[in-house]
Amino acid sequence: MAPETASDDQNVQPSKLEALEARRKTAHLGGGEKRVESQHKRGKLTARERLVSFFDDGTFSELDSFVTHRSTDLGLDKQRFEGDAVVTGHGLVDGRQVFAYAQDFTVLGGSLSLVAAQKISKVMDHAMRMGAPILGINDSGGARIQEGIDSLAGYGEIFKRNTLASGVVPQITIIAGPAAGGAVYSPALTDFIYMVEGIGQMYITGPDVVKAVTGEEVSHEDLGGAAAHASRSGVAHFTAESEEACFAHVRQLLSYIPSNNAESAPAAESNDAPDRSDNSLRDVVPDAANQPYDVMDVITKVVDNGEFLPVHHNFAPNVVVGLARLDGKSIGIVANQANQMAGMLDIDASDKAARFVRFCDAFNIPIVTFVDVPGFMPGTHQEYGGLIRHGAKLLYAYVEATVPKITVILRKAYGGAYIVMGSKEMRTDVNLAWPSSEIAVMGPEGAINVIGRREIAAAEDTEAKRAEMVADYRDQFANPYVAANRGYLDDVIDPAQTRPELVKALRMLESKVDSLPPKKHGNIPL
Ligand code: HXC
Repeated sequence: MAPETASDDQNVQPSKLEALEARRKTAHLGGGEKRVESQHKRGKLTARERLVSFFDDGTFSELDSFVTHRSTDLGLDKQRFEGDAVVTGHGLVDGRQVFAYAQDFTVLGGSLSLVAAQKISKVMDHAMRMGAPILGINDSGGARIQEGIDSLAGYGEIFKRNTLASGVVPQITIIAGPAAGGAVYSPALTDFIYMVEGIGQMYITGPDVVKAVTGEEVSHEDLGGAAAHASRSGVAHFTAESEEACFAHVRQLLSYIPSNNAESAPAAESNDAPDRSDNSLRDVVPDAANQPYDVMDVITKVVDNGEFLPVHHNFAPNVVVGLARLDGKSIGIVANQANQMAGMLDIDASDKAARFVRFCDAFNIPIVTFVDVPGFMPGTHQEYGGLIRHGAKLLYAYVEATVPKITVILRKAYGGAYIVMGSKEMRTDVNLAWPSSEIAVMGPEGAINVIGRREIAAAEDTEAKRAEMVADYRDQFANPYVAANRGYLDDVIDPAQTRPELVKALRMLESKVDSLPPKKHGNIPL
């Protein structure tokens, strides 16, 4: 046989390249032009458009675009699309590697087939091996009905990987379409869930089943839309008004967090002087213990350039959590919000703060806590809902965290809530207080009602006696100096100096090494 010549090669190559191009074009059309059109008509991008738009320009590389399902059941042999119902791959976000998948609703409603699960598992495995974040964009009718148990096993493979990757690489989910039934548990296992307003919906059972079982009538949006999950259930951490806005926000979130649990978050150039003091901080917190103010004012006056990224902003607003930078380094902030329920801790606030503290700890992000807490929320609703169990989660999370921990008491720090909110005994490294702080077992009025009851009853002018005793109590206990005398506080600081003091503490703590006793795992009161 005559050997092939270079010109033979050239004759063959173009046709093969054309065939490849043609196949790729078909694959890129997902479920076909009509379905792409229908996706656009609903105001949604296609899976590929989403990933191309999310990553740095021109950096998205697709994997497995020729994979097809192998099922012939229930007519599936006539509905085979290259790439099947998910687009997977990797790309760069501000130059850092990120893996991603986006379910393709144009192919059989984005339903999860066995091969779709295998494609997703492949990029999750890559993310773990390469130590890079993974983003999932969900838009799917759930388990592929025709594939039955194979599809369910596929979900199992994904849930397993979500769990094993938890605390190793950051996992982020965007809900940009339906996510129903058990399919919601992959997002729920990830660190952050975004929902795109008007198009993302999540529920275990849809409105029809709800009506059949309970008689309750509810719309898809009211049951599982962005607003419902971002403010009521707390399932979603963020909402975005459009897909583009959502992608920009995820990119911003990624800038605050490391690529994996062995790295630190990327440092940012800061033009905000580390020793910048701010006299206006002396006026933020009102003297009167019951007067509200916005703790965001404290946070934004202290952090680099006033930039703060709140997490779970509309859920349990009585506690504020989120990411910022100090001295160019990422920090996680937990702060009681005095203008919501007086900043009391309740079930949802405890869950919200505990999960955030654990995220920061898992990913080497120091925690700064601003305290102004009158206590835990009283009432049967809270007690029957398990406030004890939920509050214990926050306590557990603080003690377990080995990252640098700094606490600043702004005003009230009473009772159990004082202990929970990053007190010295929670293995916190630096504890500071503003001069207006009141640290005590309970507030003056409550305390005098208990310990001064007899004396007040015996007085001629009971109200005058009560006021006198409250004032005495306040003088004796409702200040930071009792705690500072005993070393429970490291210092009492001028509020204006909060930023320089925090920067100093963070720099001192940079080389912190701490550990937990050897164990398989603890038993956090879930
Ligand atoms: C196979 C599916 C599908 C599915 C949708 N399709 N869901 N194919 N398996 N699960 C197909 C439809 O047949 C249709 O194909 C196309 O996708 C688009 O669907 P439409 O219904 O036309 O779209 P729309 O009106 O927008 O409604 C979207 C939907 C609806 C709300 C998601 O399709 C739906 O209710 N699907 C079923 C949801 C569900 O019950 N899934 C199982 C959940 S249980 P054609 O060819 O007609 O265009 C589950 C268990 C997971 O997921 C367990 C994990 C542990």
